[in-house]
Amino acid sequence: MEQKIVFSGVQPSGELTIGNYIGAIKNWIELQDKYTCYYSIVDLHAITVPQVPKDLRKNTLDLLAIYLACGLDPEKSTIFIQSHVPAHLELTWVLNSISYMGQLSRMTQFKEKSQRSEENLNAALFTYPVLMAADILLYQTDLVPVGEDQKQHVELARDLAERFNNRYSETFKVPEPLIKKEGARIMSLQNPEKKMSKSDDNQNGYILILDDPDTIRRKVKRAVTDSKGEVKYNDEQLGIRNLMNIYSVFSGNTIEEIENKYDGLGYGDFKEDVAEVIIKELYPIQEKYNELINNKDYLEKVYSEGREKAEYVAMKTLRKVYRKVGFIQR
Ligand code: AMP
Ligand code: TRP
Repeated sequence: MEQKIVFSGVQPSGELTIGNYIGAIKNWIELQDKYTCYYSIVDLHAITVPQVPKDLRKNTLDLLAIYLACGLDPEKSTIFIQSHVPAHLELTWVLNSISYMGQLSRMTQFKEKSQRSEENLNAALFTYPVLMAADILLYQTDLVPVGEDQKQHVELARDLAERFNNRYSETFKVPEPLIKKEGARIMSLQNPEKKMSKSDDNQNGYILILDDPDTIRRKVKRAVTDSKGEVKYNDEQLGIRNLMNIYSVFSGNTIEEIENKYDGLGYGDFKEDVAEVIIKELYPIQEKYNELINNKDYLEKVYSEGREKAEYVAMKTLRKVYRKVGFIQR
């Protein structure tokens, strides 16, 4: 049987939080040994909000170094920069032609972003999910490991695949989202009803993958909890529930094991341990990152080889699509 295919990506739009790590990248690592994986740095998506060009360049290399430091292995996976493979844009155009305005305007992320920034309501923000569908469908992807917030976009990719297949005959595999329960939605440490995000105004709301140990200790200590004083997993103690999810992912303990371990202990002890499990996992990643970010030649080698492998596969699908649509072979 053919190996299943995995595709995912993160935008190079600044530093990554442990939400990105837990919801996405950490899960990608274990998939590498079982599946054929494509992991992209989606710079085309990043320009749907204004970027400073030199920062975008820096953030792109930074993200590549973080991917590698977290354990993505170019020997096992194809790691590449989205804008290096123009087929993504070419397929986007074709998919635009079968995308309904109504469906795109119902995308939660578009609605949220457009409410936040009326003055920058650009067309790319609107077709962003179509580009994401092109990313996924070009590689005949089976599984898309993402956080909960991207589920709707993967569903759109499924719809577009099915619509194209119905209209032009079987062409695309219909992908499925792969969302882990505990890490699907890591919440802000300052407001556990909001997802943890690097665009949060309050820096205490998020922990960055590159935060130093003292910063991590301080942020966890300040995390908003409640007055119950019990480490119990339920809907009334959202702050504690979030910390338990984080602890669970980093320690490998189940929620039940955590409840037992902290039975009778206060939040102080629990929070100290939460900080330590985060630090223990992030520290080696940070050391590796510091080494890699100074090795530009190596980074260039990785993304160049990645581009070549990605392009080969992407072009195979694109040629098929162009033929079915009725374009004359170039
Ligand atoms: P983005 O930073 O929007 O490019 O997100 C990259 C990946 O991280 C996507 O798969 C998101 O679903 C995931 N992600 C972002 N924030 C969180 C969060 N707070 N909890 C879980 N996953 C997240
Ligand atoms: N839109 C995704 C996000 O913001 C990033 C992304 C772009 C992606 N293309 C993708 C994720 C393809 C998975 C598959 O997180």
